[in-house]
This record gives sequence, structure tokens and C-alpha cells, in this order.
Amino acid sequence: MKIVSYSSKPYDKQALCRVLDAEWDIVYTELALDLHSLSLANGAEVITAFVNDRLDRAVLEKLYAGGTRLIALRCAGFNNVDLEAAKQLGIKVMRVPAYSPYAVAEHTVGLMLTLNRKFHRAYNRVREGNFSLNGMLGFDMHGKTIGIIGAGRIGRLVGKMLKAFGCEVLIYDPYDCSACKQMGITQVPIEQIFTDSDVISLHCPLNKETTHIINADSISSMKTGVMLINTGRGGLMDTSALIDGLKSGKIGYLGMDVYEKEGALFFEDHSCEIIQDDAFERLLTFHNVLVTGHQAYFTQEALSHIAETTALNIQAYISGNNSCLENELTCS
Ligand code: NAI
Repeated sequence: MKIVSYSSKPYDKQALCRVLDAEWDIVYTELALDLHSLSLANGAEVITAFVNDRLDRAVLEKLYAGGTRLIALRCAGFNNVDLEAAKQLGIKVMRVPAYSPYAVAEHTVGLMLTLNRKFHRAYNRVREGNFSLNGMLGFDMHGKTIGIIGAGRIGRLVGKMLKAFGCEVLIYDPYDCSACKQMGITQVPIEQIFTDSDVISLHCPLNKETTHIINADSISSMKTGVMLINTGRGGLMDTSALIDGLKSGKIGYLGMDVYEKEGALFFEDHSCEIIQDDAFERLLTFHNVLVTGHQAYFTQEALSHIAETTALNIQAYISGNNSCLENELTCS
């Protein structure tokens, strides 16, 4: 059986090889999946794909025609997949629902602390022999109100970590979160997250309801100087509203591990090119903005878990072709 693994960087390949190559012949490619690269998948019953691979109807139809019947996503988010089209075509889509919520939660708190205490600026200053503290003033996390959007695995962990700092933690989720109550985290309407929080952190999936959940309106209802953190998905935030909020001072700090147009930039070295995305480049000019390139998940443990679960998903597909599989997304 032919398997093609898209968007497979050397570090992905190393982790995947350990578990996949023992059983199957895999073609690894660093190319992202799109209309140009899908010819590689011709004759492959299984493909594996990552966060920015294009899996819309046009690509899925061509994959199906080429013989693909399983898409094994090596990630939790699936906003890049047209699940309806996959279902109609009879392509199974499986994912890795939780490879390391700890990795993402720890990175999230890291962004908060870095923006607050300005580690990124201190690193450069001290190396240049500049020990001035002007512009380095932070605030105690203790006693601050943190608003979390999305009470899933990652959101709850972020809440737990910040409770340990002595923060008051509010959480919004459309579903009742009994585990939150037990952790001393208060579930509130989303409007209260916006109005009451000193720091707002996004941990919900990207879908029709959550697209641009952070927009000019929601920003206008926030505290002046609010810190916004997004390690969820780029499309949760309206970039032009962020730029306006930063220019006016309404947004005091912005930490992003994801960006709504990251597909054209992230995971590749563009250091010798002129980046054409003016909004992204504008964001980088603000001293109170910190961007990481979708690396919140990137720990040894997460890579191993992704590889192991991907192998289990492929095995489950092979042995249970017609049943609804545990990590399958197209099952109703
Ligand atoms: P999860 O599925 O455990 O939790 C998501 C939560 O969001 C659920 O409680 C769900 O009820 C809630 N939710 C659904 N619709 C909502 C809405 N309209 N408003 C607020 N909450 C809503 O997912 P998990 O593992 O906590 O991951 C959260 C997100 O983090 C993923 O969807 C993914 O996009 C992102 N992620 C980012 C990574 C990175 O490296 N930056 C790595 C892994 C995940």
C-alpha cells in the first residue's frame, strides 16, 4: 500500500520513520499538499497531512480519483479540511486529537510571561551591554483576571497553570464545563471575558462561529491595555482590527503562535526574500507584539505522540475499513 506523507520536515520524518517505516513504504515530501503537489499522491491509498495542507473539495476530488481513501491528519485542528466533501466522496479523515496539550499550554504561558516581563528585549539589551531598565516594567500576574475562550484540553490546562500564579481565571465555552468548576475556574458569557479580563487567551477551534471572534467590536469592549494571546488558529483574529487596536493602545500586548495567512509563511525559511504580506510585517513593527511560527506544539513528546497515533490510525483503517474509527472526523 502506497502512503504519501506531505509537509514532512526532517524533524517530522525522523519521528514518523521510527514508527511508520517498520510497517509500510512511505514517500515523505516536504511539499505542502495543494493542487500542484497532489500528483505525488497518485495511487496512494493513504496520505498524511498537516495544519496548512490544502484539503478543500477540489483537492479531495482529485485525491479520490487517484485512489486515496484515508487522510491521516498529523494534527488536532481540522479547519483546513472540507469534511462534508470528504464524507460525500467516502474518504475517511482521521486526526491526532491530543498530542500534547501540555506543550501548547506551556508555550501559551511562555508568551504571556515573555510579553509581560520582556524577556525577548532583555536578551538583546544585555548582550549589547545595555542594562537600562527603561521600558522593561512588567506587572504581577498574581491577582490578574485571565479570560480563556475554549474550555477543552488546552484551555483548561492554561487555566490550571494560571491558577497556580494566583490569577482569577474566567472561561467561556458554549458547553457546560463541570471540570472547570472543580478547578475553581468560573464559566462566564463571552462578553464578560472581553470586558473583565486583563489577559485573553484563545483555545477554541476555528469554525464559522469562531472566525474573527476577536474583531473591532470585541476589542472595543475590552480593557485598555489588554493582553491578547492566540495559540489556537490564526483565523480567530481579524488582523486589521489587531493593528488598529495596537496603534490606539487599546491592545497593550499581543502574542501569536498562529496567523490567519500563515500558510504562505510558516514552516519555511523566507529570510532571504521580501515578505509581501504587509499586514504581517506591520505587526512585527510593534515592540509589544511577539510572534512564533506555529511552534506551540513542537516538543519531543508531541512529535512522538503524533507519529504513534498516526500509525495507530492507519492500522485501524486497514483493519476496520467499514467501521467508524475512534479518531475519525467524518463519522456522524
Ligand atoms: P478541544 O477539542 O479539547 O477543546 C476545544 C474547546 O473549544 C471545546 O471545549 C469546545 O467546546 C470549545 N468550543 C467549541 N466552539 C466554541 C466556541 N464557539 N467558542 C468557544 N469555545 C468553543 O481542543 P484542544 O486540544 O484544547 O485544542 C484547542 C485548539 O488549539 C485546536 O482547535 C487547535 O486549533 C489549537 N491547537 C494549536 C496548536 C499549536 O501548535 N498552536 C496545537 C494543537 C492545537
